[in-house]
Amino acid sequence: MHNGVSVTQFIIEEQRRLPGATGDFTSLLNDVVSACKVIANLVNKGSLIGVLGTAETENIQGETQKKLDIITNEVFIKSNEWAGHLAAMASEEEDDIYPIPAQYPKGKYLMSFDPLDGSSNIDVNISVGTIFSITKCPEGITEPTREDFLIPGTEQICAGYALYGPSTMLVLTTGNGVNGFTLDRDIGEFILTHPNMTIPADTREFSINTSNQRFWEAPVQRYIDECLQGKEGPRGEDFNMRWVASMVAEVHRILTRGGIFMYPKDNKDPSKAGKLRLMYEANPMSMIVEQAGGVSHTGYERIMEVQPNDIHQRVPVILGSKNEVERLISYHKN
Ligand code: AHG
Ligand code: MN
Ligand code: MN
Repeated sequence: MHNGVSVTQFIIEEQRRLPGATGDFTSLLNDVVSACKVIANLVNKGSLIGVLGTAETENIQGETQKKLDIITNEVFIKSNEWAGHLAAMASEEEDDIYPIPAQYPKGKYLMSFDPLDGSSNIDVNISVGTIFSITKCPEGITEPTREDFLIPGTEQICAGYALYGPSTMLVLTTGNGVNGFTLDRDIGEFILTHPNMTIPADTREFSINTSNQRFWEAPVQRYIDECLQGKEGPRGEDFNMRWVASMVAEVHRILTRGGIFMYPKDNKDPSKAGKLRLMYEANPMSMIVEQAGGVSHTGYERIMEVQPNDIHQRVPVILGSKNEVERLISYHKN
């Protein structure tokens, strides 16, 4: 029995510290929390309710959608469209932005989200997640367009993810540190279990899809090669490697015990700057990582300072323990 602080109580107490807060944002976060609980339930039931497998459709990125990509996208939209807090949404699974339907009031926030990250893992029962990023809608805009979403990550007012693993967790930042909550299914509440999450500055664990090695740039080749040489190499220490193929799970591991995660720039497909998407994967995770004391970078610039040019734009990602990420950034400068 955990008689702790619920995420609702936590958000309300945070809001009380902000002079002039109207409760609008608190209420928006509550809708996000509700959506994550519904998704946790669907992911957990899996085959019992026939939601696994592919949908035989493709999203805008040319990826085959899983049934759950489509269902969770619906859940997230339905939970967040009605209450009057948002002006529009952008989703990995929607070609264009999603304007708030005319029958609902419009609010002052924009939300970008990936309803089911790591969905290639869903059918094999490995952790997946939901990622979201909230910004203010530009001043004076009531009918936002795609362009109105192109705000750099430094302007995010909140970022978070839900991780559907052995436990369901919600990890949140509103720019005042990072806090983790665990879903207690018996009472249907997320309870604060991981206050003030911080990423150790040093690590001996890296995370990269090595099947892309031949496409990497020289700095990443050098960094990984030095790790692989272990005790006998220039680093003088052995390294460990992990690759889950769910960014949410990798970032959560790094928040828990440190590490460096990379989906770097490569020359596999020169039309793509990277694999991960800036607006609903890289930016929210960068805010969380930086708020936890880590670094998040493309190798050439801070991810949150990248000026977005499209809601589905891709970006190279190198994030995690400060000293290792900074080492790899320094290799990019050489
Ligand atoms: P999504 O399932 O939302 O399309 O994202 C998957 C992403 C990310 O979560 C993960 O780190 C990466 O793609 C895995 O890439 P590989 O398939 O190259 O391992
Ligand atoms: Mn994703
Ligand atoms: Mn996804």
